[in-house]
Amino acid sequence: MKQAARILVTGAGGFIGHHLVNRLKAEGHWVRGVDLKHPEYQASVADELEIRDLRRWDECLMATRGSIDDVYNLAADMGGIGYITTFHADIARNNTLINTHMLEAARQHHVKRFLFSSSACVYAQSKQKDANVAPLKEEDAFPAEPEPGYGWEKLYAEELCRYYWQDYKFETRIVRFHNVYGPLGTYEGGKEKAPAAICRKVAVAADGGEVEVWGDGQQTRSFMYVNDCVEGLIRIMASGHRDALNLGTDELVTIDQLVDLVSEVAGKRLTKRHNLKGPQGVRGRNSDNSLLRRVLGWEPSILLRQGLELTFPWIQKELQATNRIGVMEQVPAA
Ligand SMILES: NC(=O)c1ccc[n+]([C@@H]2O[C@H](COP(=O)([O-])OP(=O)(O)OC[C@H]3O[C@@H](n4cnc5c(N)ncnc54)[C@H](O)[C@@H]3O)[C@@H](O)[C@H]2O)c1
Repeated sequence: MKQAARILVTGAGGFIGHHLVNRLKAEGHWVRGVDLKHPEYQASVADELEIRDLRRWDECLMATRGSIDDVYNLAADMGGIGYITTFHADIARNNTLINTHMLEAARQHHVKRFLFSSSACVYAQSKQKDANVAPLKEEDAFPAEPEPGYGWEKLYAEELCRYYWQDYKFETRIVRFHNVYGPLGTYEGGKEKAPAAICRKVAVAADGGEVEVWGDGQQTRSFMYVNDCVEGLIRIMASGHRDALNLGTDELVTIDQLVDLVSEVAGKRLTKRHNLKGPQGVRGRNSDNSLLRRVLGWEPSILLRQGLELTFPWIQKELQATNRIGVMEQVPAA
């Protein structure tokens, strides 16, 4: 076994943070998790799970106390496309506070390595106008033209990480996630992402019925299963690579194909009803993994179908447990 470290995971009550805590504990590390809330669907196995608001400087100092080796900074105010296109001010303010305070508190407490969770939303929007998009390379974030709100604050925090290395020699890592999905992720309430939302819609639809799809369904994305994401995070932390790295798959699908895949996994025949007023985000987005492969000698490999075969049953079971599938199945197909 590798040497045990003292690790802080912020956002440990959230989707990726919770999975990361499970993995780090399984590897024998001491882990402190911090979040505004406990994980929704499964108790945390962190040695300490502290409820703190990391927008506050004093709370960031408390979170990073006690000889922490590594910080995985995953806390963020975020959600799916509907959420991030609606709440620009809240998201930009909250996350700028979290990231600037966490970075400085970690530096003052002599944390050895700090990983910042950025996003593919930092990429220039003009390079994502075509569904048949060229995969995005790390340098495509500049000249800067990111997603309003969420993309701008992520790109600014990336720059801050680079300045901390340049000026203070503080070890930082920058990871640009491309759409992560899997069990134990939010699947309702407005903060859910496309795969979870579509799994939910397919689960509640009667066989032969229909599902609503935002946009014309021809917009494209790539999706990464959460176990690949956690593996990548640990490898990037260990890598010594301080510049931004994509972490995603390059298995590009249209949203219509995603719906068809989920329907197949569910064993249902469904008609897609396109809601052209629904938010769709950029037209196409894919991850270029050339640099990731060069740096790590590894890249995410779990196929979308395999990941959905693990994710759909979990969401279906959640909905069954709260009696929501039985009710919806009474609604006749329009
Ligand atoms: N899931 C994805 O597809 C994806 C894609 C790109 C980037 N990311 C980034 O990865 C990270 C983790 O994402 P996730 O999918 O697990 O999201 P999530 O919403 O499940 O987890 C984020 C957690 O941060 C916590 N948080 C928010 N504000 C806080 C505050 N003020 N103080 C303390 N905790 C706070 C939330 O309560 C939540 O539990 C985020 O930084 C996100 O921007 C995720």
